[in-house]
Amino acid sequence: MSKRKAKETHVPVGECVAQLQKTLRERLCCGELPEKPEGVDAQHKHLLELLRRTALHGESNSVLLVGPRGAGKTMLLKSVLKELLKEKDVNKTLMQVHLNGLLQTDDKIALKEITRQLHLENVVGDKVFGSFAENLAFLLEALKKGDRSSSRPVLFLLDEFDLFVHHKNQTLLYNLFDVSQSAQAPIAVVGLTCRLDVLELLEKRVKSRFSHRQIHLLSGATFPDYVQRVQSKLWLPEQFPDQRFAHEWNNSVKALCEDKSVEDALQRHFNSSKDFRSLHVLLMLCLSRVTVAKPCIKPADVLEASRVCFADAKANMLHGLSILELCLIIAMKHLNDVYEGEPFNLQMVHNEFKKFLQRKSSTIYHFEPAVVMKAFEHLQQLELIRPLDSPGARTQREFQLMRLLLDTSQIMEALQKYPQCPTDVKQWAMSAFA
Ligand SMILES: Nc1ncnc2c1ncn2[C@@H]1O[C@H](COP(=O)(O)OP(=O)(O)O)[C@@H](O)[C@H]1O
Ligand SMILES: [Mg+2]
Repeated sequence: MSKRKAKETHVPVGECVAQLQKTLRERLCCGELPEKPEGVDAQHKHLLELLRRTALHGESNSVLLVGPRGAGKTMLLKSVLKELLKEKDVNKTLMQVHLNGLLQTDDKIALKEITRQLHLENVVGDKVFGSFAENLAFLLEALKKGDRSSSRPVLFLLDEFDLFVHHKNQTLLYNLFDVSQSAQAPIAVVGLTCRLDVLELLEKRVKSRFSHRQIHLLSGATFPDYVQRVQSKLWLPEQFPDQRFAHEWNNSVKALCEDKSVEDALQRHFNSSKDFRSLHVLLMLCLSRVTVAKPCIKPADVLEASRVCFADAKANMLHGLSILELCLIIAMKHLNDVYEGEPFNLQMVHNEFKKFLQRKSSTIYHFEPAVVMKAFEHLQQLELIRPLDSPGARTQREFQLMRLLLDTSQIMEALQKYPQCPTDVKQWAMSAFA
């Protein structure tokens, strides 16, 4: 025991925590590639195989990576590229062109960017081309080797692929797919998109040139997988400077994941979204609560982080309302409960409110109708309620049908935190009968 201890280096806690924050931050928010992407083995293999065929054998290809935001499309592509570049010969010949639909908003800009990324600005000089196709052909021709026998393979990686379909005549897509389909030059076109219906957006002549290969990244993770991910994202590696600290930290993470209240919070996140990005946000919030005095994550930290993640902009808005406005909202909630979500008008809301006042027989809440009207309009301005018919319709304002845009849980949550909310108002909100 003492022997083992002697070998271990002891690092002060302050440094350990700083190192911990750095390691995990890089993992969670700096886009560091995971050693091994989880749960996408098949997709990884498929894409790698396709790109390898272009890189090594000069075959042309086109493929779409489809999946919701944060599902790991960019990550998958990057890790495949990393693996591909490890192969002998590939990194000397393979060229990459990265385009993004948010940046290259028309084909002229895209072409300029392609030229720049292929380092062909000097070759192009101020030549003038008749068409986009000629220009692209010239660029690809320029990449051919001295003896003109073989071209260098080029990967065109189009992020936010669906935005390129809005370019005039879809010229860029048409030409890239056209080259990838004919044997002009070895290129692979990889599109990344979150639109499942992206093929429907392509013009017929563009669509017919696309290979129709699609790789889907739809998470099929189960809840135990999800908890496992939390654990592995927080796990400290063997190489951590202070082994004992790492060991203790890893044990605490394990205990954390087994805690019942943490499990409930994670279940809620899992139900609302399974993607990695929202998980990362949650874990970053937990991580920011780790200090030198408390070098571990407690269940309470997870619950607090979870609360912040789910903080509801609308429920927060309720804190700024006047007590009259809040009462009107409660009256609407009761009307919604009684009439099962049917629309209501100001008159009905006001009556409901009056019933409450009569029962209380208190005089502190006495409001002129004009004041109530004003409050009602303010709620509409805040978009907490919405008129049903068009604004042009000629109904009297008191009788215009409205809908409440909040649900019961949002209202109850806001009431709990409303500063100095009168008890009778709170009770009124909670009572089942208005
Ligand atoms: N299978 C996975 N294994 C580990 N981390 C992943 C995985 N998929 C995504 N991530 C992480 O989730 C985050 C979001 O992924 P990203 O590739 O940017 O999503 P997308 O491009 O689909 O919007 C990244 O930080 C990435 O490292
Ligand atoms: Mg992305």
